[in-house]
Amino acid sequence: MNSLETFIAGIPKAELHLHIEGTLEPELMFALAQRNRIPLRLKSVEEVRRAYQFHNLQSFLDIYYEGAAVLIQEQDFYDLAWAYFERAYKQNVRHAEIFFDPQTHTERGIAFETVIAGLQRAMEDAASKLNVSSKLILCFLRHLSAESAVRTLEEALPFKKWITAVGLDSSEVGHPPSKFARVFESARQEGLLAVAHAGEEGPPDYIWEALDILKVKRVDHGVRCLEDSRLVQRLAREKIPLTVCPLSNIKLRVFEKMEHHNLKMLLEAELTATVNSDDPAYFGGYVADNFLAAQKALDLSRDQIATLARNSFEGSFLSGEERKRYLDEISRYCAKP
Ligand code: HPA
Ligand code: ZN
Repeated sequence: MNSLETFIAGIPKAELHLHIEGTLEPELMFALAQRNRIPLRLKSVEEVRRAYQFHNLQSFLDIYYEGAAVLIQEQDFYDLAWAYFERAYKQNVRHAEIFFDPQTHTERGIAFETVIAGLQRAMEDAASKLNVSSKLILCFLRHLSAESAVRTLEEALPFKKWITAVGLDSSEVGHPPSKFARVFESARQEGLLAVAHAGEEGPPDYIWEALDILKVKRVDHGVRCLEDSRLVQRLAREKIPLTVCPLSNIKLRVFEKMEHHNLKMLLEAELTATVNSDDPAYFGGYVADNFLAAQKALDLSRDQIATLARNSFEGSFLSGEERKRYLDEISRYCAKP
């Protein structure tokens, strides 16, 4: 490893854009399929990996929802999340804010409680055994109806103490944030924070709606903001973090190749950009791999890497005190020769 690679591997990081269902590696998919006696269309790990050729967001989502069908029992959700934490820990992720898609499971007859209890138990173990802290973000699937999102929030409320925020994911174009105004309003009244995927494939207008209507504290992806200079000014002035996912953006052809990614421009525009892995089992890398791929293609400096790592804690939902502790860790790390 050269010195910048070592620097990237070791710097303390927070991950703010990570779909737990997107961490399902093919090996675990097969193990769970066997345990739960679920037949799979693709017959081997190699065949599954070969099928991961996407040309846009929808072509990925189709295969991602298919894979999630092996998750049935509480222990499956535990195993899924624990596998993520072990990998993240090795890449010096110190804190993770994790998305889960309850509707992907409740639509198949899995109880909300089964899903969240397994995730929560893994989060407790990550804190006690790996010293990795985490928070949970409940995402509504935007291709489903607003009424389904309202029902999902109702199912979630008994478990509110385990949930930090609500989010919005799945097929973006044709499903603007405004479709979910009511459920986000209810979530806010319940004291939950808000984030939303916007400006991945959808236009800058969707980012405006996420800010103005859903009152999001962070924008997931948001890379298309650079098409609107007023929007960039607003995001910079209000220090709204963007959870950028470089490898995902290349796999789903948001940018043709990494050299064309706008991450460096986002930093130069003084935006609080962060680097994240999105769905690492599907996009070919966990968070440090994303840092590294972006650094190489865009020639990011050591200072820019440190800024991205700092932004990940600045943009998190940690308390001021916790955030400071992690930022101090970064300062000590950067001061080392
Ligand atoms: N975008 C939208 N929905 C998703 C994504 C994404 O990147 N990953 C998992 N669900
Ligand atoms: Zn995502």
